[in-house]
Parts: sequence; structure tokens; C-alpha cells
Amino acid sequence: DDRCTMSPESRFDCARDRVLSQRECEERGCCYDPLPNFAGPPRCFYPHLYPGYKMGPLTTTLRGQSATLTRATPSYLPKDIPTLLLEVTEETAGCLHLTLKDPSSQRYEVQLPAGVPQRKTDIKDVLYTTEYQSDPFGFIVQRKSNGRVIMNTTVAPLLFADQYLQLSTTLASSLVSGLGEHYTSLILDLNWTSLTLWNRDMAPHADANLYGSHPFYIVQEEDGLSDGVFLLNSNAIEVVLQPTPALTWVSTGGILDLYIFLGPDPQSVIRQYLQVIGYPMMPPYWSLGFHLCRWGYTTTKTTRHVAQRMQDANFPMDVQWNDLDYANKRRVFTFDPWRFGDLPEMVEEFHKRGMKYILILDPGISSTSPPGTYPPFDDGLKRDVFIKNATGHILIGQVWPGPTAFPDFTNPDTRQWWEVCIRDFHSKVPVDGLWIDMNEPASFVQGSVEGCPDNDLESPPYTPRVVGGQLNSGTLCMSAQQRLSTHYNLHNMYGLTEAYATHSALKNVRGKRPFVLSRSSYPSIGRFSGVWTGDVRSDWEQLRYSIPAVLQFSLFGVPLVGADICGFGGNTTEELCVRWMQLGAFYPFMRNHNDKPNTPQEPYVFAKKAQAAMRSALNLRYSLLPFLYTLFHHAHTTADTVARPVFMEFPTDPNCDTIDRQFLWGSSLLISPVLEQGVVELSAYLPPGTWYSLHNGQPFYSKGQYLLLPAPLDTINVHVREGHIIPQQEPALTTTASRRNPFFLTVALTAGGWAWGDFFWDDGDSLDTFEMGNYCYIIFIAGQSQVVSDPLRLNGDLDGLVLGGLQVFGVPSPPHYVLANGETVRDFTYRSDTKVLKVSGLALPMSKVFTVQWA
Ligand code: GLC
Repeated sequence: DDRCTMSPESRFDCARDRVLSQRECEERGCCYDPLPNFAGPPRCFYPHLYPGYKMGPLTTTLRGQSATLTRATPSYLPKDIPTLLLEVTEETAGCLHLTLKDPSSQRYEVQLPAGVPQRKTDIKDVLYTTEYQSDPFGFIVQRKSNGRVIMNTTVAPLLFADQYLQLSTTLASSLVSGLGEHYTSLILDLNWTSLTLWNRDMAPHADANLYGSHPFYIVQEEDGLSDGVFLLNSNAIEVVLQPTPALTWVSTGGILDLYIFLGPDPQSVIRQYLQVIGYPMMPPYWSLGFHLCRWGYTTTKTTRHVAQRMQDANFPMDVQWNDLDYANKRRVFTFDPWRFGDLPEMVEEFHKRGMKYILILDPGISSTSPPGTYPPFDDGLKRDVFIKNATGHILIGQVWPGPTAFPDFTNPDTRQWWEVCIRDFHSKVPVDGLWIDMNEPASFVQGSVEGCPDNDLESPPYTPRVVGGQLNSGTLCMSAQQRLSTHYNLHNMYGLTEAYATHSALKNVRGKRPFVLSRSSYPSIGRFSGVWTGDVRSDWEQLRYSIPAVLQFSLFGVPLVGADICGFGGNTTEELCVRWMQLGAFYPFMRNHNDKPNTPQEPYVFAKKAQAAMRSALNLRYSLLPFLYTLFHHAHTTADTVARPVFMEFPTDPNCDTIDRQFLWGSSLLISPVLEQGVVELSAYLPPGTWYSLHNGQPFYSKGQYLLLPAPLDTINVHVREGHIIPQQEPALTTTASRRNPFFLTVALTAGGWAWGDFFWDDGDSLDTFEMGNYCYIIFIAGQSQVVSDPLRLNGDLDGLVLGGLQVFGVPSPPHYVLANGETVRDFTYRSDTKVLKVSGLALPMSKVFTVQWA
């Protein structure tokens, strides 16, 4: 059959939904050709022009076009939808929006919480062109500037049945990232891999669907350009990647709602994506400090002791945490009267020391306390906040406290009740933030304590490959009922809806910027919460994979992210823990957390040398917090990434395409950690240009090459990019203290002697400071042997704070004198070997223009 002659890597699977014999395959009108020597390509695949939908005439609408699609003969799927409505909208110059739905009956459609603020941008000069193939229906999106095909869906048929939606497209290159949450490298493997998006309580390992779902990918095109695609769909999704290069979306429900982003550069693709799902929240300043947690701080006495030992050993730390240990019989919103009887006092003590306190809050509400003794359940019943099973009774699952009911956060009454629970608890225990765990949601029984009914939601005609084999494995029944829809449709959004409810509650209760940390995630969660990468194991491989994990969340609009430092599962080792603290000092969210049975891994338990290395990593992070905070400001206001893949900053350098053992903070700090045991030197890539060691200012003039760098146990390699100025501050044991210390600048000059940097500052904790104008924003410019500040806005908490000094990298010759605001400075040094000028002992008010000159 000459309709079956495509090359093996261009075959699209005609038997995704089930295994077919040759006869069954041919009955579908597909080609059958098993290739004994190839593991990947499908044996049953679509021929060219396999019949599908036929497209009617295109009608012009206000901002796009629409058409009706019909199929003459039904597909091979049950409950086929014969007529579809195609709507194409030119959202912005860089964003094309395409939906396919059933015009005759309303199907479930995703609603992101709280409405995403619209950011209107230009729709003149769109970057794309669209073409259609009418029979069988398919579309082609091209980049207008160079004609490159971004999507081409004519390669395989569109399928649209009640519980099976499928769309294939070619990809503009093989460099694809995203489609989390999985244990993968930054660049996905296109060699016939299948990735399932189904939120699941599962310790990170390869080939498993993990805690979050992000149906978004970004493609690096050949010449430094990038494009991306978002499928706004919350059902169980399987994505098949193949070397064509091409990708197939299979979803078990909802509609096909596609956003196509044309960039043209990678950072613009992310910005266009976040214009759809929302820009990240601004985190409180203290949340960028160090967090210490473990399961097994069994009393307030132990917890106090931990914080005290950290302080005594001079380790910077802002936040002490407690895991489940605090709760009375593991029930949330209670605390154990014996072991944690003085929890309120303990929290007050931490506050007096300038520290913060966070504890865990699981969504499952214990349902077996005697009536009248546990208000969260009693009130929840009264207010009808819990998820129901298919017959309308409260669904009971099983989590840490035993049998539990699950709040339905899509119901506004639930969010109100949740706020009351948080308000009451907070009036006793004034927590500063909440850690929302187990919110996939996780349950230790399949579906419910009574199992699940037998229906098409529990056992759909097609179930993507999920851990446990069934959608209701480790979670609730699919036919459970929530306000907005069935759990089948809403499952992937459970954590998001809880994060939204918790964020809003904390905002109303505390009147300050909320801090929420969530395990489960879905697009838009970055508006409300940070994320950690779950139960990582204490080993070197997991340390290494934490970098792509963090970078992927950067792409998903969740800049506040980190892995459990030193590992959660299993015992750590001293060397691993040192290296992990060093890398962790550059996770945007930095928390050391450990599982109950494991040996301790607080910094103070290790030998003096290891402690010193950890202390210096912590001090380095604390000294960089003004810079990190400024990066978060840019994430919040312009959707820039904080922890940034190297390819995003250097998209035209092909050496950067796949780097995920190194990463950047913003555009100017390159972090090159040790990720292997016993290693004390490191081959690190430096993109073309001059890079200065942050440590000592030593310059490297890179042609775009790998360099062998010394990396003894006490060092993490960090390089500053020429042309940048990094605002820093003397570290202290908490950010409460460090925020009052003198600032200093690290100035990394270009060969021509120039550099630029900026600095955002506010009180660190109030709501909407940027939106209300209560902040300072200062830029720094270096050139012609001087550094000047230019305060563009001065309205927030900078009074009394001074610039104490600066270090200038790349000063070609020894200066004879240094002037600060025109006055002679005696306190300066210059090293001719590294060409570093250091000026100290200054006290220049930050809120005034300053000039530091040398000659
Ligand atoms: C889950 C969390 C882990 C936590 C534990 C006990 O495994 O991922 O961080 O310590 O539950 O609450």
C-alpha cells in the first residue's frame, strides 16, 4: 500500500487507545508493519490522508476565524463527536489561540481561579500565518518571518470522542522542554517516549507521572528563535514524543484549547505563556532566606533546640518548620496538647528573634472524631464543603490521620470555610505561611474507603500509562463530584484550587504577602504559591536531576521552587549534603527537609569542615538576596525567569541548547555546582564573553568553551557576566537583620569598562507594593571609571540604609585614588593579578544619588 510508505520515525500510532492485531489494525484502515529491529515506531499507523473531519467554509469573526468540522463516517472511538466548532483567535502579535469543541453540547472547560488579569498587547504585525487542509482537517502554523513550520497537524488525524481527544503535530526542532512534572533532563527525549500528565503522590523517578501537570512545551528553533504551545486542558493527558520530530496530545476529556506562542526569543515565549496563565506572585523577602524542616521534630522542645543550635553555630536561617508532628492525632488545625502544648509561645519566640514559622497543612479532614470535638469537620459538614461520591455522600479516603473527607476548593463556600479554619488556628498559632502537601490529592486507598463504582469515568475506554495503572489509584474516585465538575475533570487542578484558597485566606487573615508552598501544581499556581519537588532521595543522581526540575518550573511560571536539600528519602552523606547545600543556596526556594526515619541532616550535625562549607554557601546566598529579590520583582512584573536555563539567555549559542548541569540567576550569574561524589574540579561551560569568579573576581575570557574549574569541597563556582552589576548586602543570621546591613555592589566591567544593574526594594512583606507604588527602584551604571546610582523611584523602606562598599572586577590598572561623592576614600585595595578594585568603609545613603570614581 503506497499510502503506508512513510519512514519509521514519521509514523503516527493508530493504536494508541489499545493493542491491535493486524486484522484489527487493517479494519481501522491503518497500515500494519512491525519492524523487528526498531523498538520505537508503531506497528499499526495511519496512512497518508486517513479520513477525519472535513472542514466547512471559514467565517471571519471579530478577531479571527471560525469553521465547522464534520465527519462523514464515525471514527473507531466510542462516543465520537461528529461535528466540531473550530475557533481561531489572534490573541496578540505573538499568540495564536485555537479551540475545538462540540457546538451542540457544553463540555467541561478549564476555568483558572480568580480570572487571569488581561495584559493587552499589540495585535498588529502578527508573527504567524495559518493555513488549513480541509479534508481531512488539519492546520499549519508558520513563523511569518522565515516560513518555518511551527505546527503541522495534517500529519495524523484529529480524533475527538467523549473521552478521547487526539491531535498530532510536527515540531520545529528536536529541542523540546516542558510537559512536566517528570523526572527528566531539561531537553526531553523524543525517542518514542510517552509522558503522562496526571497528578500523583509519587517519589520522583524516571517514567512516572509526578505531582504536577503542565501541558506546555517550548521548542528551541535553529537560529536562536523559540516557540511554545499550551494545551489548556485538565484531564489526564498523555504526550507521545517521536523523532520526526513530532508530538501527539491525547486527552481523556474536556476540549482542545491550544495557545501557540511565537516568541520569537525563548523568554518571550514564556512571557506569552504567562500572559495566559498569570504572572507569578511577589514572595515575601524572608521566604528567600533559608528554611529548615524535617519530619520528626517531635516536640516544641526539639524544635526550639534545632533553631537554637542553628543560631549558636552561626548558620543564617529565616524559617523553622514543623511537619505532621505538631498536630493532635495528625489532624490539621489542631496541635498536640502534650508534645506541642506551648506551640503558640514557641512561635512568638521565633518572631521575637526575627524568624518565621511554617507548618504543614494537608487537605484531608479527619472524619472520625466524635461529633462536636473537631470543628473543621463538623463545620465543613454543615457548610457542605466536602467532595461527594457518585451517589451524593461524602467521599471518604484515607490519609495520615486515618479516614478523611476532602474539601472541594472549587466551591466558594469551601474557600470561606477554609479561611475560617485558618483564621481560628492563626489566632492561636500565628504561622507565617502554610505548606500544603498531599494535594494531588493523595489517598492511601484506591478511590475511597468503599472503592469506586464501575463506570466510564473510573475505567475510561482509554487510560494513559499512569502509576498504579488506573486514574483513581492513590487518589479519589473519578466519578466523585465537585462544584465545578467531576473529579475526573478536575483532578489535576486540586492542588491549584487549594493553593488559591490558602493564598487568599492567608492574605485576608494576615494582611501581608502570603507564603504558600504546594506539592501538586497546575498552570497558574505560580500566582499563588511556590512548589517543591517532593520526596527526592538522598543520592547524587537526584541532586543532579533537581536542576532540570527547578528549571522546568521556571518555564511553568513557578519561579519560587526548590528540592529538599540533602534529600528527603534515605540517609544523606556529609559530602552529598555539602554539595546539596551549595546547589540549594541557588534554588530560588531553599529548604533542607528530611524524612522521619533518616539520620539528621541539619547543617550543625556535620564535621567542622562541612559546616564551614555550608555556612559559606548560606552567607553567599544571604549576601545575594537583594539581587534575588530584584529578580523576583521582574518575574512578578514582566514574567522574566529567576533560575534560568542557559539556553534562554544565550539562544544563538548551540553549545547552550541542552545544558542542565549549570544555570543562571537572571541574566548575570552563572552557577556551576558539583554534582558528583568525590569531585573537586569541574568542567563548566562559559558562553562567549568575560566571566568573573564571584569568589575572587578572577576573569575568564571565554570563546564559548568548557573550562576546568577548581571546586574544592568549600566552594561552589559562581560567575558574574561582564557588563552586569549585582546589588548585595552583608549577610546576617536572618533577613530581618540582614535587611538593615550595608549594601555593596559587585561591578563586572566589560572590556570597554561598562556595566549596568538594577535593584528593587520595598518593606518585603506588604501586599501589592509594586502595584501601589510603595517601593524603591534604583539603577546602577558603571562607565569611564565610575559607578553612579540613579534612583528612579524612592518610596519604600530604604531610609537609613547605606552603600558600604563595592568590588569592581576588570579594572585594568591600579587606581591612584578613589572618590565617593567627590570625597577621597582611603579604604581601598587593588590586586594587579586579578584586576579587582575593592572599596570599603563607605556609608553612602542608598536613597540618594551616589558616585564612586577611581583614577
Ligand atoms: C509527604 C511529603 C513530605 C512530608 C511527609 C509527611 O511525603 O512530601 O515532604 O514530610 O508527607 O508529612
